Amino acid sequence: MPVIDIHNHFFPRTWPDLAARYGTPNWPWIKHTEPGRAEIMLGDRFFRNIYAACWDADVRLSEMERDGVDIQVLSATPVLFAYDRPIEHALDCAKLFNDAALELCAQGKGRLKALCQVPLQDIDAACGELSRCMRAGHLGVQIGNHVGEKNLDDPGIVTFLHHCADEGAAVLVHPWDMLAPQRMPNYMMPWTVGMPAETQLGIVAMILGGAFDKLPQGLRICFAHGGGSFAFLLGRLENAWRHHPVAHGVCELPPRQYLNRFYVDSAVFDSRTLEFLAGTMGTERVMLGSDYPFPLGEHGIGSLIRGSGLSQSAKAQLLGGNAEEFLGLKTGTSGREVSEVTPPAEVHHDQLTYSSYLRVPELLQLQQPQSSPNHHDEMLFIIVHQTYELWFKELLHDLDAVVANLRAAAANPQAHDEVYEAARLLRRCTEITRVLVEQFTILETMLPTHFLAFRGKLEPASGFQSEQFRELEFLCGLKDEKMLRYHRPTPEAHAQLERRLREPSLHQAFFDALRAMGRLQIAEDATERQQFDARARAVLALYRDEHSYRDWIDVCERLTEFDELVVSWRLRHIQLVERTIGVRMGTGGSAGSSYLKLTLDKKFFPELWEARTLLTE
Ligand code: HEM
Repeated sequence: MPVIDIHNHFFPRTWPDLAARYGTPNWPWIKHTEPGRAEIMLGDRFFRNIYAACWDADVRLSEMERDGVDIQVLSATPVLFAYDRPIEHALDCAKLFNDAALELCAQGKGRLKALCQVPLQDIDAACGELSRCMRAGHLGVQIGNHVGEKNLDDPGIVTFLHHCADEGAAVLVHPWDMLAPQRMPNYMMPWTVGMPAETQLGIVAMILGGAFDKLPQGLRICFAHGGGSFAFLLGRLENAWRHHPVAHGVCELPPRQYLNRFYVDSAVFDSRTLEFLAGTMGTERVMLGSDYPFPLGEHGIGSLIRGSGLSQSAKAQLLGGNAEEFLGLKTGTSGREVSEVTPPAEVHHDQLTYSSYLRVPELLQLQQPQSSPNHHDEMLFIIVHQTYELWFKELLHDLDAVVANLRAAAANPQAHDEVYEAARLLRRCTEITRVLVEQFTILETMLPTHFLAFRGKLEPASGFQSEQFRELEFLCGLKDEKMLRYHRPTPEAHAQLERRLREPSLHQAFFDALRAMGRLQIAEDATERQQFDARARAVLALYRDEHSYRDWIDVCERLTEFDELVVSWRLRHIQLVERTIGVRMGTGGSAGSSYLKLTLDKKFFPELWEARTLLTE
């Protein structure tokens, strides 16, 4: 996988005298002081020392070589944004530097790419320049985190971001024009204090202002400098969101739910901070960004990630894998190993691999023990639960298809294909559930004392909060609204379960089909008990006419078997619970095994069982 640095800057060796060109003062210009060295000036004010890496592709390539970087994605510097200038000047300036960026990239032996800049004070002009640049070969755009008083949730800026998504342009948000300059005149505080606050402000404005709700999922947007103060203060933001309606803004979900809508770069200069950032954002959301070749940039690009305590697969994601996604570069496997610095490898495009198809690196990142120091068996505890959840997902997938087939059968009672298909998929569900019953034995290799060593870390997490388990119950027909209360901390799960409560269940779809076939009649004024009896007798009638209803009997048998296996699952779970914590209370606050024993009487399809009693009448 290539190592890709998505945040670094360039300056052309020369450019026209902008002050003379536009007749306005304080434009940036470059003052070459000695070979390979220069100063950026703003009018007659010194701004920054720079060196040849800013404009000389060979210097840059040799330093990339030294640091083990395959690709750099260049952007201009925020002093060139010119958002407060007349639009015609800002647009002309943007074109000048955008074309200069591509000229530098052309000397980069395929290893230099560029993000353009746009005059964001005029949305039409900004969209036009972005489209021009994308056609010319830019991979996206760098924008400031605000335009004067307008934050990133401003409707015009949202329109521009929408256009970026439509054009497939990656967006890098860079802080600029820092707040409260009069209170930060010294000590580089605009960089060390102002910039992180500006970036946090950009992200928070997008979340609370509802920008992410309006923008397509496909927008690829990244915030520089690790997202500024955002990740560190996310808890504070959520606390306000929960307790003060006014802090809700207009967004649809709690702030944390938007973490999968944006990336941040790795420019945080501290390995513990980087690990925290990856833990908060997810390792799939952090990318190598160096701020090279400026004095505050990372010296030894990528060394922070390489030297961090992240796993090898996470490092690979941060060093390049995530950037490939962000930039829309679908590349294959070859490239340098993350732990070593080797000559640059060629980037191969479009090669699907076992790992990339199955998302193995992401999957292997998802086991995050809570015990410290790590308790050996916590890994097993996590993996067993995750495996259950994956199978629950497949069960939901298949059972939804069973419901769809039964509904199709109800719509066309003569057809048999849907009935066979329902039976076939139900057979898969029973086989999966059989494995789920068996799987508890693996967890029983954990001594009760070993579980107790980390159990305290789990509270108040509990199996009660398994959204998918409850979804399965609701989908099959056991709809108990009271169970929703365990999902209040996770509004998305809560909403999904409410949807399941409203949707027709497997139980309902099955009996609707019998009704459509004319095999079930229920009087309007029938009591619950009479309805139940009518359903059980309808099943009985199917079994008594085996010759005509072989396919439906097969469905009944599979449903019965599934019901039976879920009870076996409940029983084995209770045995595991008693073997591990005896009759202690659960972390979810229930009485533990005595509560769970009450669930053993739950059946999805009690009429199928009743029919058996009736058969022997
Ligand atoms: C050491 C292992 C385990 C222990 C001690 C344990 C304990 C418990 C307890 C005490 C409850 C009752 C709710 C509460 O008060 O928290 C419960 C519920 C539950 N557990 Fe486990 N459990 C274990 C493993 C598992 C595994 C591997 C799964 C797999 C998904 C699982 C899934 C569930 C589910 C879905 C519920 C809710 C059941 C219902 O409401 O009917 N548990 N567990």
